Amino acid sequence: ARAQIGVTGLAVMGRNLARNFARHGYTVAVHNRSYAKTESLIADHGTDGDFVPSESTADFVASIERPRKIVIMVKAGAATDAVIDELIPHLEEGDVVIDGGNAHFPDTIRREHKLSELGLHFVGMGVSGGEEGALNGPSIMPGGPKESYTTLGPILEDISAKVDGTPCCTWVGPDGAGHFVKMVHNGIEYADMQLIAEAYDLLKHGLGESAAGIGKIFEQWNKGDLESFLIEITADVLQHVDAETGKAFVDVVLDQAEQKGTGRWTVQNALDLGVPITGIAEATFARALSGSVPQREAARAALPGDAGTWQIEDRDAFVEDVRLALYASKLVAYSQGFDQIAAASAEYGWGIDRGAMARIWRGGCIIRAKFLNRITEAYERDENLPLLIADPYFADVVGKGLAAWRRIVAQAALNGVPTPAFASSLSYYDGVRAERLPAALIQAQRDFFGAHTYRRVDREGTFHTEWSGDRSETTA
Ligand code: 6PG
Repeated sequence: ARAQIGVTGLAVMGRNLARNFARHGYTVAVHNRSYAKTESLIADHGTDGDFVPSESTADFVASIERPRKIVIMVKAGAATDAVIDELIPHLEEGDVVIDGGNAHFPDTIRREHKLSELGLHFVGMGVSGGEEGALNGPSIMPGGPKESYTTLGPILEDISAKVDGTPCCTWVGPDGAGHFVKMVHNGIEYADMQLIAEAYDLLKHGLGESAAGIGKIFEQWNKGDLESFLIEITADVLQHVDAETGKAFVDVVLDQAEQKGTGRWTVQNALDLGVPITGIAEATFARALSGSVPQREAARAALPGDAGTWQIEDRDAFVEDVRLALYASKLVAYSQGFDQIAAASAEYGWGIDRGAMARIWRGGCIIRAKFLNRITEAYERDENLPLLIADPYFADVVGKGLAAWRRIVAQAALNGVPTPAFASSLSYYDGVRAERLPAALIQAQRDFFGAHTYRRVDREGTFHTEWSGDRSETTA
């Protein structure tokens, strides 16, 4: 046994992660269900470093030093359980099994409990950054037993992305915490992408600007507060021309957004926890709306538009308004995502350090962005910060963009351009800061039809009014 780490599942993510380990000087045991993939890894990239290929699971496991560290990189779901079951008979006490797929965190909790009963360690590890990140430095979110991080952590930190010399990898928390945080990362990714898409749509309709022209605007934006991977690739994508038609590439792509499910899981969990992640939810539903073809056709045929026509006098001012609205809405989406992490951490007993999560998202991952530094700073100022956008720095940023944000949402509505994420984020902002909400009326209605009781503003206790009787108030 001479390999320091093993990777099983050599599709593109597994292959690139294995190459990343090898390039960092680790001897990497590699294995795949069909041996051809293992052979092609060695044939194509054997020079990256020291690989130990095995055809059988037994040989693969035997080729790794104890306590073994084995990374599973297969499609999340049943395949992960199958690989775990295949590994188990060959493993020995103290070995560490690491699932680097996009697993749903309840599955990770279940697997962690099962393996810990067998004396094994199970690490549910979120990995972000796509193929490129896996090869050159992803953001890594490992959960599981903390003691496993003592030996595993340094290797993962070594191959992770670095920002100012700091690794984009840290231990997240017990059992499902790592995969949970990766799930929320993806939810924020959905919101971020939807907000960017809405900004593009506003610039397109408002200015009548070409895709390439809007790409240039995003290029400019990427030099300021919005600097991020997603803004950067948007600038690139918008300026790309379709080779076949000579049209802007974005104009020949079918406008139906798909998803593999992590955004949906994020929203489902937020509903369970009662956390209002409205931006992420709207982004997820916007994908669903785009894919409802028969409904879109029926609506187009039947529903009047009745919208005004854009009258933009100052183009630069409009562009700046869109930029400010995008930044404010984006801060809301991140704030909501961190809110969900806090709620889950309390609910499942994970003790997640939110500032550290922002720190490991600064590089490597899809939502990497310059302003994540500011989030870390906010949680350093107050680790129990109840709401990220209420941190003085973010409150100031959002405050300065507020008038622009309102103008954009209003103009979009007047001109019939759908901006579900912009609009819901602004509504959330106004809702969460409202002195008094109409929730009072809802409580009264609930008490009226179902004797569900209410509390009063002026004294402690729970009350009920005899609505169908003499309308006297009783203490419930
Ligand atoms: C990442 C990405 C990655 C993947 C998403 C795409 O962090 O590297 O989030 O996990 O690209 O799963 O998700 P959808 O297919 O659901 O858009």
